[in-house]
Amino acid sequence: MTDFGFNHLPLTGWFPGHMLKAGRKMREALKLVDLVVELIDARAPRSTRNPAFRQILQGKPVLIVANKVDLADPVMSGWWQAYLERMGDQVFLLDARNPAHPAELIRCWKNSVHEEREKRGAHNKLSRPVRIMIAGIPNVGKSTLVNRLHSGKKAEVGPKAGVTRHNQWITLKGGVELLDTPGVLWPHIRDKAHELRLALIGSMKDDVMNVELLAEYLWSELHQQPPERVAWDLYNLEACPDTPDALMQAVAQRRGILRGGGKIDYTRTAIALLKDYRDCRIGRLTLEAPPQD
Ligand code: G4P
Repeated sequence: MTDFGFNHLPLTGWFPGHMLKAGRKMREALKLVDLVVELIDARAPRSTRNPAFRQILQGKPVLIVANKVDLADPVMSGWWQAYLERMGDQVFLLDARNPAHPAELIRCWKNSVHEEREKRGAHNKLSRPVRIMIAGIPNVGKSTLVNRLHSGKKAEVGPKAGVTRHNQWITLKGGVELLDTPGVLWPHIRDKAHELRLALIGSMKDDVMNVELLAEYLWSELHQQPPERVAWDLYNLEACPDTPDALMQAVAQRRGILRGGGKIDYTRTAIALLKDYRDCRIGRLTLEAPPQD
């Protein structure tokens, strides 16, 4: 990947205190479930995973759901799925706002638990419903998925050993119970480019970032995309301009946000560009390719 110099900038150090609490709660909840569904963002499958997560799980089976496929490049999503499966993970591609095959997803979770039990030598079937938790870093779509799968029936789990009184389970079709509070993971941020990428896809809040810097970073991402993948005609362009300023000029012109004397209103233009990206108006873009084997 081209280094545009972003990694010389300091990290924001964003780590809200509530995430520590969320992490503790998740460890507790882990004891209650048979399978963890790790949600990642299909636009940045590498950056939205926390490598430390597997250690926290301590052998608990996990299945990956790459969500927001409707915003990602379909070819790249296929490559990511193939790559992660080669690495030994089971991967399901999903648009949680509009899940095409929820029954298949639930069946897949159930099978995964039964296969894992067989692997561990269990001969009989579980005498209770399979229990599942969804986990992932902020904004990957955890709540959306929980809500979509919700069939209207929530079961309060009683005061059993190790079960907090307020844990609620959502009963899904086919003998599966889903913990209604998803596990919140913190991102494991490698460098500034990683932090900016998370901000771009909404996993870090814009108010802790500088939107103008973020727009410049988006330019660097767009610069690395094949021109045909980006809807450059949106800004009357044919390819990515050579500088962030030239891109901002084109966006400002197209959006009519130039100040007197043709000067760019940089902040408003940055916000408009970021919104175009997030609303998928500049194309279904995946920001990172799977490693070459
Ligand atoms: P979280 O619990 O993991 O933090 O994420 P949450 O479900 O709150 O989803 C974060 C945002 O991502 C929401 O948009 C949600 O609608 C959107 N989202 C979730 N899954 C998908 C998906 O598969 N495709 C697309 N395109 N979007 C998805 P929002 O703008 O924050 O809220 P709203 O527009 O839903 O009100």
